[in-house]
Amino acid sequence: MRAMLTTLAPALDDGGFHTADEIAAQVQFAERHHWLLRRWLDELTGEGCLEYDPSRGYRSAAAPSEPGSADLYRICADLGYSPQFADFLRSSADNLTGLAQDRVRVQELLFPGGDMLTAEGAYRENIISHYLNLAAREAVAGVAARIAGDRAPVRILELGAGIGGTTDEVITGLSGLPVDYHFTDLSTFFLNAARERFAAHPWMRYGIMDMNADLRGATDRYDIVIGANVLHNALHIGDMLRDLHDLLNPGGAVVFVEACKANYPLLTSMKFLMSAAPGATHPGKDDIRQGARIFLTEDEWCDQLRAAGFTPMLVLPERDHPMFLLDQRVFAALRD
Ligand SMILES: C[S@@+](CC[C@H](N)C(=O)[O-])C[C@H]1O[C@@H](n2cnc3c(N)ncnc32)[C@H](O)[C@@H]1O
Repeated sequence: MRAMLTTLAPALDDGGFHTADEIAAQVQFAERHHWLLRRWLDELTGEGCLEYDPSRGYRSAAAPSEPGSADLYRICADLGYSPQFADFLRSSADNLTGLAQDRVRVQELLFPGGDMLTAEGAYRENIISHYLNLAAREAVAGVAARIAGDRAPVRILELGAGIGGTTDEVITGLSGLPVDYHFTDLSTFFLNAARERFAAHPWMRYGIMDMNADLRGATDRYDIVIGANVLHNALHIGDMLRDLHDLLNPGGAVVFVEACKANYPLLTSMKFLMSAAPGATHPGKDDIRQGARIFLTEDEWCDQLRAAGFTPMLVLPERDHPMFLLDQRVFAALRD
């Protein structure tokens, strides 16, 4: 919160009221990140750090009380996040004005010098990711084993597979099954790394796929579609799920991992990854999110799945699990 307020200070330090547009102009917030500025303003108002008046806008209120940087490292360590990941959160906060103004790209901080260690800390090497990836592995293995009884190979598509954190776990659950695994992402950077990493698995193939452009009208059909921390990038969630429905064979399933709420460290770091390129349409502008947020709640995902012709069969962790509070979920849903 403190980092957000420091970035917004040039617009709010005079103690007066300012509209979101005035704040954006004064801070020189890049147009493509304006949706994120609105999220910050909502959060800061909700926390009492800003006062909001519908006719006049926002002005500073109370200073936030929050843990300092030493606590950030301790909290990360407690949750199993690497020191590199804590460094990333720290440097995102330190570079927040540059990120907001698009002078610094969050990718430079997340993949310093092309290195994947920090991203691995985010998507694999921590307690919640271990849990989610294991749950995804079990869900995929269960569906694959059922389908393998009817037809072979079981055809699996992974969207936005990235550093392969979920892939690693999922493929251990497929050993012994006849599988054709299509590992895809937007960028050859990830495909090249994956080719090396998964070289021991000849049943894996690699390709560029943009879920916003390449799903509709695709001629290939799959039995399982996997997406870990990627489906929220859909321009329109309902359309994307209907496209996945049409891409799946009857009896197939979609298995995905999603954060269902953004916390402060995400709002000042990873969220910058989710802004559309300059001039491109922002994800969620015309769907249930109305351009104001990226993540859907658990209930919204289940509703959207049903509306697209899926039956949700699994959402983990359950409400009484200690990790429920971390607001990340694995969903598995069957194509009706
Ligand atoms: C947050 S990363 C998650 C990576 C990986 N699935 C994991 O959890 O370890 C999101 C990934 O989705 C990819 N991505 C973003 N937009 C996409 C789109 N429209 N279609 C396909 N992939 C996309 C990015 O390139 C990135 O690798």
